Formats: sequence, structure tokens, C-alpha cells
Amino acid sequence: MAVPEAFAGRLALPAVAAPLFLVSGPDLVVETCRAGVVGTFPALNQRDTPGLTGWLEEIAARLEPHPGAAPFGVNLIVHRSNQRLQADLAQVVAHRVPLVITSLGAVREVVEAVHGYGGLVFHDVINMRHAAKAAEAGVDGLIAVCAGAGGHAGTLSPFAFLPELRSMFSGTLLLGGGIGHGRQVAAARLLGADLAYIGTRFIATRESLASPDYKRMVLDARANDIVYTAAISGVKGNFLRQSLSAAGLNPERLAEQEALNLTEHEKRPWKNIWSAGQGVGAIDDLPGTEALCARLAAEYREAAGAL
Ligand SMILES: Cc1cc2nc3c(=O)[nH]c(=O)nc-3n(C[C@H](O)[C@H](O)[C@H](O)COP(=O)(O)O)c2cc1C
Repeated sequence: MAVPEAFAGRLALPAVAAPLFLVSGPDLVVETCRAGVVGTFPALNQRDTPGLTGWLEEIAARLEPHPGAAPFGVNLIVHRSNQRLQADLAQVVAHRVPLVITSLGAVREVVEAVHGYGGLVFHDVINMRHAAKAAEAGVDGLIAVCAGAGGHAGTLSPFAFLPELRSMFSGTLLLGGGIGHGRQVAAARLLGADLAYIGTRFIATRESLASPDYKRMVLDARANDIVYTAAISGVKGNFLRQSLSAAGLNPERLAEQEALNLTEHEKRPWKNIWSAGQGVGAIDDLPGTEALCARLAAEYREAAGAL
């Protein structure tokens, strides 16, 4: 087990608030970090690289008066479709972002660039093949994105996936998928994860950039409302049934709807067709991020103590 040394004494809860496309921004990051949870955001949440630079400077400035705050991280999509990768990476390096979370590709050059200034790289994976590639590229942490997670989720049970990962990787292990209560963070640790990876729970916070309708849908939805499909973004992911219906799609027959016409204004993936994980079923409030993190930490301590 290995929580990075750079995190030592700075976490109130062994957890990372996962990067959420179009949902996480500086407010969510700053509040999570101040509350002792690693805050992150996708670089692509800013429309261009200068915008990313602006957010990096804002976050650093707002966290400066809080030297004991948890570190923050930026998510980079490492794929040829992301034409901003090199420019965004250069800004991440220039601002010495403490944690980089890579998705899709795990590439040695990115890892070396981040290690060059003492930063850490975690990479999210849904199977052993991707995990082996990432380990080979030299990442510091592997994030097991298990069944029922929000976004581009996997299908493996954490009970099966974590032990397999641990058998081949001695770095930091994170577990994502349906975690929204401190008891589940304790369970993740028991399973062998060093840190929990929490996404969907943070959609329903005051600081998230999700629209009020999206937040309301997360509060109303149950695990059965989550549809796992590749029809929306080309990669298998979890989406809210209610948002598929609202966009005029039939959630039961997505595979048959050849021309989904997702460029239409009201049918844009992530913007109008909303993602969430199966953990929505247990979310029924819209707290401030700081209060949510404090609650998770108290629940975690209680669960760990009970064990
Ligand atoms: C709305 C939404 C947007 C997401 N966007 C991204 C993203 O841009 N990059 C990424 O690596 N993961 C993204 N994810 C996945 C999360 O980072 C994380 O793996 C997942 O939310 C964890 O599972 P949970 O939602 O059940 O807590 C997204 C998830 C959601 C729900």
C-alpha cells in the first residue's frame, strides 16, 4: 500500500475528487483541497490553453494561504484527438501541477515531463491490459475504474480487479465506481486501495458547474436509471436514462438508432446528455463541497473505527 509521500499529513480523507468533464472547475477544486481531499479537473474544461493557464494561476493563488491543503490535479486526455495535449502539458509543467491524471493513453514522455518537476502521474484503467501498459510507462498510480462508475466506466468488480492490479503493481492504487459515503472509502481501503476516487457524488454539490436540472436529475435518479452504452461518445460509458429521454433518444434501443444525430443542439453528449454513475441512488442532497468532504471524513473515521 502506498499513499504518495507528497500527500502525507495533507488529507482529511484518503480520497481524490475525480475530474468531471464540464462539471469540475476552480471552485470545486479549491474547496475539496481546502477540506483535505485531492481536487482535480479536466484540462479540457477550459476552452483553450490560455484558459487553462488562467485556472492554474487562480487555483494556485486561492490555495496559497492554505499551505496544509491537499494537493490538486489536472486530467489530460492522452489521445491523438486531443490536439491541445502538448500545449496543455507545457502549462502543467510550467505551473508544477502536483498531480496529473492521464486518461486513454499512458505515455512515457508525459510521465517523464511530470516527474521532471517532481509531480505525480495517476492513470485510469478498466482492465489489466491497460494497467500493464501504464505500469510500463512509469506511472505512480493506477486508478481502477470499476463497474457502475460515472463517465467512461469499466465492467469489472472491484473485488476481482483490485487484487489483480495489486499483484502486478506496487505503486498507489485508487478505486472508483459508486463511492459516495465514507463507509465506502473505508471499504475501498479494505479491498486494497490506497485512495478512493469519487466522481458522481461531487456533481451534486453547490460548487459543481453542472446545471440545476442536471443536479436535480442526479438527486432523483436511482442505480437502475444508469444506462451503459457506447452509442453516445463512442466509448462505453454511463449516462442518465432521464437525460437520454429528454434529448429525444430511446434509452432501450440506442444500439438500433443508427443516426443518433448527436451534433443536434439538444443532443450533445455531456452537455445535454448527462453522465453519472450508479452511485446516484444514494445521493439525495446538494451540500457545499467543504461540508460534504467533512461529512465523508467523519463517516470514514466512524467506519474505520467500527472495524
Ligand atoms: C459527468 C462526468 C464527467 C467525467 N469526465 C471525466 C473526464 O473528463 N476525464 C476523466 O478522466 N474521467 C471523467 N469522468 C470519470 C471520473 O473521473 C471517475 O472515473 C468516475 O466518476 C468515478 O466513478 P463514480 O462517478 O461512480 O464516483 C467523468 C465522470 C462523470 C460522472
